Amino acid sequence: MSFNTTTTASNASCSLASSQKTSVRGGRANNKLRAQKHAIARQNGRRASSLVVCDGTGKFVVGGNWKCNGTIDSIDKLCASLNSGKITADVEVICAPPMVYIDRVQSKLKAPYQIAAQNCWVSKGGAFTGEVSAEMLKDANIPWVILGHSERRSLCGETNEFVGLKTKYALDTGVKVVACIGESLAQREAGDTLNVCFAQLKAIVDCVTEKDWENIIIAYEPVWAIGTGKVATPDQAQEVHAGVRKWMNENVSADVASKVRIQYGGSVNAGNCDELATKPDIDGFLVGGASLDGEAFVKICNSAAHSK
Ligand code: PGA
Repeated sequence: MSFNTTTTASNASCSLASSQKTSVRGGRANNKLRAQKHAIARQNGRRASSLVVCDGTGKFVVGGNWKCNGTIDSIDKLCASLNSGKITADVEVICAPPMVYIDRVQSKLKAPYQIAAQNCWVSKGGAFTGEVSAEMLKDANIPWVILGHSERRSLCGETNEFVGLKTKYALDTGVKVVACIGESLAQREAGDTLNVCFAQLKAIVDCVTEKDWENIIIAYEPVWAIGTGKVATPDQAQEVHAGVRKWMNENVSADVASKVRIQYGGSVNAGNCDELATKPDIDGFLVGGASLDGEAFVKICNSAAHSK
């Protein structure tokens, strides 16, 4: 188990302790940082309240969300570029092509690339024009599906509850889920970032079992950073990731909170990935625009080498 209960003072101290916290991803612990963290907690002594400090322990994972982009020609070129790039870091990589090209991409991409769909239906297939069922993904050997992306929430009216139900159905069908959460600019400016993320997570927690979390990746994607070129700063992202992990500890279990992988998404590119990857609670990325450039995407995958 990777949680330690320690004491510290205010919320400000919480984020300080959290940003100083040690990661044991890969089983390595940095005792010096851990000692510093405890010293900070001791200094804050008086107004102390309980703070759980957690270390993410999962393998770095990068997803490429190709969204509704591409032609046969451009997709073939992208696959060739990805196959010729060298993934040298210890990283899991998942590419999500548009549905119509999934079969083609799956037959072209070589290991380590895995495939995800960008959506699936909430229940068994049938009279649901335009949809694809989790059974179909399973049948076509598609191991992953992205659910609850902000574009589907805002453009297709998917509610938190609907995303929770979809997540459960996909998992029960044997398809693993990248579950997206994140706040809008207005919600961030109103100070609601964590509450919005927690409500989105709760709707998923309400539907799934503790064991299901073995097959879920959380993607934190602030809506204001998606496709805008405005990336969250590493500290902004880390703060939310640490908050999400703490919430998972309190609302699911210490074990799940430690193991669940939390990706950051929103204008990640070849230039900003290395620094973001150093943050202890960032366990990977979900990449939109830059995933359409094979060379850039391979560089982003290799930023896993910077994760602590
Ligand atoms: P972006 O998209 O990298 O283009 O900002 C991320 C996403 O929507 O998953």
